[in-house]
Amino acid sequence: MESVIVAIDGPSGTGKSSTSKAVAAELGLSYLDTGAQYRAITWWMISNGVDVADPLAIASAAAKPVIVSGTDPSAPTITVDGLDASGPIRTQEVTSKVSAVSAVPEVRARITELQRSIAAAAEKGIVVEGRDIGTTVLPDADLKFFLTASPEARAARRSGELKGKDAADVAATREALVKRDHADSNRKTSPLAKAADAVEVDTTDLTLAQVIECVVALVEEKRVAT
Ligand code: DC
Repeated sequence: MESVIVAIDGPSGTGKSSTSKAVAAELGLSYLDTGAQYRAITWWMISNGVDVADPLAIASAAAKPVIVSGTDPSAPTITVDGLDASGPIRTQEVTSKVSAVSAVPEVRARITELQRSIAAAAEKGIVVEGRDIGTTVLPDADLKFFLTASPEARAARRSGELKGKDAADVAATREALVKRDHADSNRKTSPLAKAADAVEVDTTDLTLAQVIECVVALVEEKRVAT
């Protein structure tokens, strides 16, 4: 069977990661979480004393960390300079700083190159999730999806992933999400955007299983047609 490249973009909390992993597993494809790579480089900057409010300092350090992504959808991994980064990249500190780091053009150029080489090496094909995959990283992807959901639904899902959530947690999560999406959508270099040829899926009222089914069906249809 032909190799297939699937791009899944959208803001956080739309079900991108769960959908992408499940679709890749079901279709026997590799999986790449590009947000994890931006989080990893952010974690490295913080750990190495780089001032993340200083784009010049970030730019001059951008080539230093060695970031390696494991692309098995049932057990994705990420290491930085050989250290397991999967836990540290999910902290509040990294989440609050990742938009600033990922807006720096030198960071984007470095990570984009890494993403393209990982996609090219995936023999059976790959599902790549992020913000600019369909527009910038893999503009020739066989299929592009753009997932959306209301801010309320996204905040409720993200809060649900945290322990001991209450109404105040959901409100704070919503505020942080909206702020991060605004920064990601308004940066100069490859902002969060829907590609003109992407299929938009509003996941607000859909279950995860329904979103997965929709994406798998369209990928299979495309594979049969080509
Ligand atoms: O998907 P995530 O929440 O783990 O992504 C973390 C951040 O990384 C997100 O706020 C913006 C950045 N990002 C990006 O700029 N481009 C991508 N392709 C993926 C993520």
